[in-house]
Amino acid sequence: AEEQSLSARLLRWYSAEKRDLPWRQTGDPYAIWVSEVMLQQTQVKTVIPYYERFLQRFPNVEQLAKANLEDVLTIWSGLGYYSRARRMWEGANYILQHLKGKFPGDYDALLQIPGIGDYTAGAIASIGFGQKVPAIDGNVKRVVSRLLAWPEPVETVRSYRHFRERLMVWQPALQAGDFNQALMELGAMVCTPTKPDCPACPVAEACKGCLQGDFLRYPVKKPK
Ligand code: ADE
Repeated sequence: AEEQSLSARLLRWYSAEKRDLPWRQTGDPYAIWVSEVMLQQTQVKTVIPYYERFLQRFPNVEQLAKANLEDVLTIWSGLGYYSRARRMWEGANYILQHLKGKFPGDYDALLQIPGIGDYTAGAIASIGFGQKVPAIDGNVKRVVSRLLAWPEPVETVRSYRHFRERLMVWQPALQAGDFNQALMELGAMVCTPTKPDCPACPVAEACKGCLQGDFLRYPVKKPK
């Protein structure tokens, strides 16, 4: 019951407060892939015009695969981290050559694509296909580490496994993608790195970090 109300409150908040972002208007897994790759190291505001230009120029996986890498990098220029663009282009070529151009249809198949890691596969599978699988990026790690007042460094396999298990319990099967995006949105808008707005948080009553008043201790960093 506790788990249900956490996800129910999070989803109600997300439905009322979510930003209207272009990749939230689509169910196309290819477009969601593009958005997630761009969003991995770049802010939403910067990504929006690049996302739209990229999809105009390369509207599907086949067009991306058949393009010259130089043209892909040109469209990408200004976004930075160019290896992201190259790896996406390589992934598109893999899909064209090994999957006859058919975009993979679930999480396990997505993980086979070179360049698609656990986060991206989880995001595409949950948002694009409604599959119940977590998508754990830095924002989500921060939110979950505060919710649990998780005492261990977050960047370890152990912490990752622990977060994954908790998220699987919280994530509702019928709104898997919205649940993941709600956590991302909470991390971006409320549970921010240095000034979390706990009074505005829909899950503050369930948050150990908030209840203990030491939320800025989390996420715990590895001692160097
Ligand atoms: N950051 C990563 N994925 C995102 C998404 N789908 N919406 C907003 N911010 C994000």
